[in-house]
Amino acid sequence: MSEYRLTVLPGDGTGREVTAEARRVIEVFEENSPLSFEITEIPCGGQYFLETGEEWPEGSFEHCRDNSDAILLGAIGWPGARMSNGDVAGGQVILGLRSGLDLYANIRPVKLYHGVQHKVHGEHTNIWNPDLVDMVLIRENTEGLYHSLLRRSAQAAVGAKDEPIVIDKFPGLEGEVSWDPRPISRRGSERVIRFAFELAKRRQNHSQAPQRVTCVDKSNVLRGCRLFRRVFDEVAGEYEDIDTAKAFIDAFTMWLVRDPEDLDVVVLPNMFGDIATDLASVLQGGLGMAASANIGDEHMLFEPVHGSSPKYAGQDKVNPIAAISSVQLMFDNLGVRHDDSDAMLCADILETAISSHLAEGGVVTYDLGGAASTSEVGQAIAERCKALLQEHYASA
Ligand code: IPM
Ligand code: MN
Repeated sequence: MSEYRLTVLPGDGTGREVTAEARRVIEVFEENSPLSFEITEIPCGGQYFLETGEEWPEGSFEHCRDNSDAILLGAIGWPGARMSNGDVAGGQVILGLRSGLDLYANIRPVKLYHGVQHKVHGEHTNIWNPDLVDMVLIRENTEGLYHSLLRRSAQAAVGAKDEPIVIDKFPGLEGEVSWDPRPISRRGSERVIRFAFELAKRRQNHSQAPQRVTCVDKSNVLRGCRLFRRVFDEVAGEYEDIDTAKAFIDAFTMWLVRDPEDLDVVVLPNMFGDIATDLASVLQGGLGMAASANIGDEHMLFEPVHGSSPKYAGQDKVNPIAAISSVQLMFDNLGVRHDDSDAMLCADILETAISSHLAEGGVVTYDLGGAASTSEVGQAIAERCKALLQEHYASA
């Protein structure tokens, strides 16, 4: 019997709707497997800020830090919800947690399930063979171009004063200048790159196929990226049976779309990872399918990659699979971290429920060419989970 403390942060817009479906699925696991969760739900985000003047209730950061084995986040961001300094309202939640809990590896799997259609030219088609798209992008999550914003958000989350970064001169520039520093450290690079190699090793055990880690940067022009690549080469030397590749981010975007089968585990600095993962989601059917895990040595947070989609909020319309797949990543990561075979098994069962639902033509939302609602898809996947769990635990 494993009981985990789970903090749920539904956030804004459709984040709330997909989180409800994620919770529906979690409930099925609680009822039909040894897994159990002590759940605390905390309101937060831009909408909450507009209503209350706060991004989340006082003590929320501390609750996430001190009383949570895992955190599940819906989406943050709402039109017009900005802090007085111009930062996104709700940033304390998503960025404050990434930085304040030192969640340095943002894992974004890109896998095309059988039965999922892409929408590239405005029409749903099968362009890629599903077997060719199965990679994991790992975005560095605590520094790079996000560094000062991350720091500001984490300082705000603990009620501390932000220490402003000393501004240099920019010779040759005149008039108003605004800038974001992009520091990349050896320590920050090393831990996320090592994480990528360890993940590749785990995938190797899973599939027996030779695995590869690809380093994506812009080391032909940027100093920070040169450090990132140098550290990549050093770490790679410790993993002799894992193949490596390197690419510059511009060429990588082309490579990603043209030959996705070349890619297995990919590691990228923060902002490149942000951009490349939205692009890569097209290979798996769009952002409605893209799940993520933010992992640190002490804490973990799971979230769909998509935002709050204000346009569709309140319509029971958006795809809940990214949020449900984030629960799958949560089970898997809890399993690995706590050496919990039930959690790992539940991760496999949830994965089977999602893939069989899609492969067998189960109901899907508009983004995948269907007409089902958020809750219909959530319900259908939850029912599959229930059937699989009952089958497994009855025969066990
Ligand atoms: C993401 C999002 C966030 C980011 C925003 C909401 C701050 O785009 O998780 O990819 O830029 O990291
Ligand atoms: Mn993004």
